[in-house]
Amino acid sequence: MAGDNSLSITDNRTGRSYDVEIKDGTVRAMDLRQVKTSDDDFGLMTYDPGFTNTAACRSAVTYIDGDAGVLEHRGIPIEQLCEKSTYLEVAYLLVNGHLPDKTQLENWVYEITHHTYIHENIKELMGGFWHDAHPMGMLLSSVGALSTFYPNAANIDDPEQRYMAAVRLIAKVPTLAAFAYRRSLGLPYVYPDNDLSYSGNFLSMLFKMAEPRYEPDPRLARALDVLFILHADHEQNCSAAAVRVAGSSRVDPYSAVGAGVAGLYGPLHGGANVAVLRMLQRIGSVDKVPEFLEGVKQGNERLMGFGHRVYKNYDPRARIIRQHVDEVLEATSRDSPWLEIAVELEKRALDDEYFTSRKLYPNVDFYSGLIYEAMNIPTDMFTVMFAVPRTSGWIAQWTELLNDEEMRIARPRQIYTGARNTDYVPMEKR
Ligand code: CMC
Repeated sequence: MAGDNSLSITDNRTGRSYDVEIKDGTVRAMDLRQVKTSDDDFGLMTYDPGFTNTAACRSAVTYIDGDAGVLEHRGIPIEQLCEKSTYLEVAYLLVNGHLPDKTQLENWVYEITHHTYIHENIKELMGGFWHDAHPMGMLLSSVGALSTFYPNAANIDDPEQRYMAAVRLIAKVPTLAAFAYRRSLGLPYVYPDNDLSYSGNFLSMLFKMAEPRYEPDPRLARALDVLFILHADHEQNCSAAAVRVAGSSRVDPYSAVGAGVAGLYGPLHGGANVAVLRMLQRIGSVDKVPEFLEGVKQGNERLMGFGHRVYKNYDPRARIIRQHVDEVLEATSRDSPWLEIAVELEKRALDDEYFTSRKLYPNVDFYSGLIYEAMNIPTDMFTVMFAVPRTSGWIAQWTELLNDEEMRIARPRQIYTGARNTDYVPMEKR
């Protein structure tokens, strides 16, 4: 007799019934393996391209309620973190599982501030790229290259090595990102300034020119810090999953995070903020918005920055970013020609049955590009701007994976659809 927390399955091919335990709202895919038509049958598998309904791990890092538009890190709502915290404190929270006390935070900030320099050889690596190389490609290669500079990081069971890798990655990714940017403009690299905040130093490494000391506008430094908090982690998204899949082979953390950078690069993930700005530029003016939306509804294109696999409501991150757009425009004394188009797009889409019935709302990328543009950050850098703070999330996910007793190497199954037992054909007969 099946207990309350079980699922009864009848296999109509054989007439046999099975009881499968339900725990935490899931059934174990392996419990289905017993469902067979004969002894030599492999057993039933689940088929889930894109993992749309498969939990691949237990995680205590980030909670999302997509229907309610809720995002929490270690239980703390994103709204509170954006209002009261800093990016480095959130990074500590994600990686260590709790808010730091005063001393812990001071030590953490000190450690990260004092590991921002990169080996001079990395500069030479950067110098090998074409002048127009995409900064995300440069970031991807240089993050991977870090594993060769810190070979001890391969000792992933050593807590000290894990800690140093976390510190080094969070500290050095902004430097690599800024160097990639300066390289793409043919500008000299700007070394980190340890007297500035994390986001202030990043602005300095991007924008310092001939002035002896770069003084970041505190409004921009704060807005950037909030953007960093908003992008820090987002549970099992494409890049976090890539980090976990690569990390499950027990590769070193730099290589695992490199896999995350690669996942983020794509236009359906971190590249969407670029696609949004290009879309707004293509639309060109507010009066073209209805025609553009008609094209989306006819399936000719996607409304970039809209829709999400998990959020079926307004992405809470988009709401917070929207609040900062005007502030940044004011600080930079700029007028964004694209903001008006974005606002009109959002208004019309939220009023249109096509989008509302599919639960398509603005996501984090809809307005972030406008802020980056107002800060004078070129479009090609947008995804890099996402990668910088997401590094802490990747490390948190990687650390959790290594501490998970159920962790095994990621190795999905497939439904084989190809040919079988065909003979090799010699070249002259093809
Ligand atoms: N514009 C128009 N239609 C859309 C969009 C969109 N942006 N997104 C989804 N749809 C439609 C889709 O055509 C489908 O309609 P139908 O049922 O008639 O076939 C329905 O909505 C469901 O879409 P889906 O592609 O099955 O949804 P998904 O969960 O596989 O995709 C997504 C999620 C984010 C990839 C997708 O919404 C998308 O491509 N959005 C635009 C790109 C974007 O903004 N990405 C950033 C995501 S947030 C930041 C991050 O995590 O990286």
